[in-house]
Amino acid sequence: MGGGVSEATSALPGPVPVGILDLAVATGHHVLDLDDLAAHNGVDPAKYHVGLGQDAFSVPAPDEDIVTMGAAAALPLIERHGVEGIRTVLFATESGVDQSKSAAVVAHGLLGLPSTVRAVELKQACYGGTAALVAALGIVARDPRERVLVIASDVARYDLDSAAEPTQGAGAVAFLVGAHPELVEIEPASGLFSADVDDFWRPNDRSTALVDGRLSVTAYVDALLGSWDDLAARGGPAPHEIDRWLHHQPFTKMALKAHRAWGKHAGAETSDDDLATGFTYNRRTGNSYTASVFLALAALLDLDDDLDGRRLALFSYGSGSVGELLTGIVKPGYRTLRRTDAGSVAATLDARTPIAVGDYRALHASHSGPGSASSLDRENPRVTTGPFRFAGVTGGARRYERTA
Ligand code: COA
Repeated sequence: MGGGVSEATSALPGPVPVGILDLAVATGHHVLDLDDLAAHNGVDPAKYHVGLGQDAFSVPAPDEDIVTMGAAAALPLIERHGVEGIRTVLFATESGVDQSKSAAVVAHGLLGLPSTVRAVELKQACYGGTAALVAALGIVARDPRERVLVIASDVARYDLDSAAEPTQGAGAVAFLVGAHPELVEIEPASGLFSADVDDFWRPNDRSTALVDGRLSVTAYVDALLGSWDDLAARGGPAPHEIDRWLHHQPFTKMALKAHRAWGKHAGAETSDDDLATGFTYNRRTGNSYTASVFLALAALLDLDDDLDGRRLALFSYGSGSVGELLTGIVKPGYRTLRRTDAGSVAATLDARTPIAVGDYRALHASHSGPGSASSLDRENPRVTTGPFRFAGVTGGARRYERTA
């Protein structure tokens, strides 16, 4: 035994700022306009637009799923930053497609990442993306030379004709976590709140979630207030030291309800306008579960020109339940990382193909009806225009391919 310290582990740098270096978004191929769903359901469209705060939701094509959306979100990051330093891929989802093999490993293959990368899937309802972010921060703090690719990707699917149906959706956000971030530096203190509640869950034999919507509203608010109190006890910022708020958005009205409750609890003045910019993308994608709060972050970074040095509060809630409140400082120059033209989120949302209610219902039923078992061999129709597709199932194994 030489007793020496290898070059790979010697002279690790001291504590450095860590956070989000860059992020990118993808969503499903189709979009369902909630005016059309309201007409089908015989409901006043204002219930959806005003009462729930939603305008449309994304519907994945038959050859799309969480893996294709997640890899599509990550691809622009790899194209812009390369793979240097990436030794971990964390894939957060609550609509996982396999009970054993992680979606991270499949995305790793589709993205052509090196073999010297660990790949893992994380689950705790909509909180999983934030769990991945916090784990990534720890990995980078341990060795600031490393970067972590985080992918949060979900398809929110509830029963047809249920109260939750208009709050479905789909989307993915990928982000790179590293040292000396150019986008958002995450501050060390966070607030936590966990409680065992049956407000939302999806048993293994179901393709749609079960939800007690009203309980989920109170559980969400409890988690925000509990997380706020914990953050305050750990030396977090005072209300007036927070410049922008971002919340998980199962439907945007939920975030408004929670924000109002926080204002009363913390003795802070709030306005519904505080959250409007962060709602811009979620109103159009619908619920993207683990990706939702990061989609709000993407909207804020894209659309708010006055964020240099501003402190953000980012609240994540995952039913069941875990809440975490993080804060971060936006780095000057964040505007230079915006994606423009065809690569912008607005263009991605505009490019979706509208789907009629009848076709959406047939697609929805195909996930739960006879012959829908995910292990049955099949070829999927070629529909998506995204960079990856779920081609089919052979010998029980899902096959994916790059389209371009
Ligand atoms: N114009 C404007 N607003 C209207 C309206 C109209 N014509 N009709 C109804 N509304 C409002 C209601 O007043 C209500 O607003 P409020 O909550 O601020 O009072 C809102 O629309 C919803 O109406 P409600 O009757 O409560 O809806 P619902 O019972 O059909 O379903 C949910 C609402 C939220 C319970 C349901 O969509 C759901 O379960 N969604 C899933 C929630 C979820 O994902 N939870 C887990 C993650 S946190």
